[in-house]
Amino acid sequence: MNYTNEELKQKIQELKDKLDVTVVAHFYQRDEVYEMADITGDSLELAMKTKNDDKEFVVFCGVAFMGQSVKVLSPEKRVLMPKLACCSMARMIDSLYYDESVKFLEDHGIPKEQIVPITYINSNADVKAKVGEMGGMVCTSANAKKIITTALKEGKKILFVPDRCLGQNIANQMGLKSMVIGVDDMDPKEADIICYDGFCSVHQLFTVEDIDFYRKKYPGIKIAVHPECDPVICEKADFVGSTSQLIRYISELPEDQKVAVGTEYNLVNRLRPKNTYVLSSTKPECPTMNETTLEDLYLTLKSIEDGNPINEIEVDEKTVKWARIALERMLEL
Ligand code: 13P
Ligand code: SF4
Repeated sequence: MNYTNEELKQKIQELKDKLDVTVVAHFYQRDEVYEMADITGDSLELAMKTKNDDKEFVVFCGVAFMGQSVKVLSPEKRVLMPKLACCSMARMIDSLYYDESVKFLEDHGIPKEQIVPITYINSNADVKAKVGEMGGMVCTSANAKKIITTALKEGKKILFVPDRCLGQNIANQMGLKSMVIGVDDMDPKEADIICYDGFCSVHQLFTVEDIDFYRKKYPGIKIAVHPECDPVICEKADFVGSTSQLIRYISELPEDQKVAVGTEYNLVNRLRPKNTYVLSSTKPECPTMNETTLEDLYLTLKSIEDGNPINEIEVDEKTVKWARIALERMLEL
């Protein structure tokens, strides 16, 4: 296809005006795709805003678990994804690995009835369904602390999947004991939160050396990071927050306050024109978020116009039922 970006944008706009469709994009999408969206946000905002949208089609520019969450919350909607890209962290756990983690706790004398599972929204629908079926719920990085606080009231052990960093960081913030299955020697009975050993490869790129470099180069600089970063990074940062919390924190800084940000490149790049740095010597781009191009978006909208929609998300009934319960328990809070 030999269209320029400007031509593609015009064609996308024409199709949007004509079709019963909402285009949704996560903050980590390429700028040119992000600009074409009707709804933008972090994963929590997208789940809530898209649930209340009344168009027949949702074209979701993001990673697969996000499109699946829309389908699970609103099975009557037709959800298409210009690229069926899977977040590498979500890919680290499936329902079999989830069952093995539960068995690990049972083998250490913690019966199922004593476990409240919590899954980070960055997981596929089958894992969310397992969690929902066991009485647990979903969290995002924006509400993880609140969800964990609520779950602890049941007086049970928390099994936190798949992101060990988010689980450990929240435990540290709340003064709770955490351990990682297969990594820490600790007896799980001693821990409040038992984490699965998953992680985000993009947020693992930020190092203590990066923080030391910026603190030395610009004394007084603030360091702001996402809680998917390793606990050693979060402990050294001035601010730890989800995507929307980072955006708010940075927008409220005085104009001349320098800040180095430890999260995805596309987002950091559009945060603030001056005094904002990417906290890494490498470019921390999320490869899967970056897979979606303007051309993919155009072809997906065109497929609706042609009456032959492509890349439609399908989730089976049983998975929808339990994954929805896990997501709705979160939204109710
Ligand atoms: P948010 O919940 O902050 O949108 O994060 C999603 C994500 O994939 C971060 O890497
Ligand atoms: Fe997944 Fe990490 Fe990309 Fe977020 S940044 S979508 S957690 S791989």
